Amino acid sequence: MSKEAVTDSILILDNVSVTFGALKANDGVNLAVKAGSRRAIIGPNGAGKTTLFNAIAGVIMPSSGTVRFDGTDMTRLPTHRRAALGIARTFQITNLFPQLTVEENVRLAVRGLSGRKFSLFGQGAANAEEAQLVDEAIANAHLTHRRQELTRTLSYGEQRQMEMALALVQKPKLLLLDEPAAGLSPAERVRMADVINGLPRNITLILIEHDMDLALGLVDYVSCLHHGKILTEDTPDNIRTNERVQEVYLGKPHHA
Ligand SMILES: Nc1ncnc2c1ncn2[C@@H]1O[C@H](COP(=O)(O)OP(=O)(O)O)[C@@H](O)[C@H]1O
Ligand SMILES: [Mg+2]
Repeated sequence: MSKEAVTDSILILDNVSVTFGALKANDGVNLAVKAGSRRAIIGPNGAGKTTLFNAIAGVIMPSSGTVRFDGTDMTRLPTHRRAALGIARTFQITNLFPQLTVEENVRLAVRGLSGRKFSLFGQGAANAEEAQLVDEAIANAHLTHRRQELTRTLSYGEQRQMEMALALVQKPKLLLLDEPAAGLSPAERVRMADVINGLPRNITLILIEHDMDLALGLVDYVSCLHHGKILTEDTPDNIRTNERVQEVYLGKPHHA
């Protein structure tokens, strides 16, 4: 990594390895992500993409290497400390209350922020700020037209959009999206891509996506993971024509 890459990066992974028994799911990964940029992590199933997110979010600790975020060495910090520093990932659908409306679910998520955002304000200011957060999150998830509907009446794709709204109320600096379009119909995938594309530009995004066409249209830089290592990093245009990426990624039989 060059000195420039390190100095204007919000997230820096230095030689990160994660082992499960004898398996190196991540093997000496170096990654530098610029603040405000959008990065895709692509690679075949089992490449180690989700493991890398878990190491960034603090769900698992690397066996070696360091993870720095926004100037802090957070290699050993637990998940809630990382969330407080500004790292969010999409929630699971099970966090939604099906019998509440979209708006009520999002408001609950805002209140679940343990008061850290509101404790300094009087009640009126807190209400106004809460209402604004709810409105923005619902709008950014493209669900404004559904906000009074019961959550159980939403389509699967809309429920995935709601997960996005729940992550956005945290006002993250870094948002980790692990296959946000997995299981969606073609029409729902287009809507999810629109949501991702329209997210506030000050949020740094890292997107894991198996569908290369979808991923490459949404980001400005791509890292391809293979057998736990960064195989190559490049712009979407160069990744499209990269022969090594095509070999490992486009389903050609791999002989280890
Ligand atoms: N908690 C775990 N325990 C044991 N092995 C795991 C665990 N999580 C992932 N793995 C293994 O690590 C490798 C990488 O998995 P993963 O990061 O989920 O890949 P990807 O997200 O790229 O499909 C796979 O071989 C997977 O079986
Ligand atoms: Mg995965």
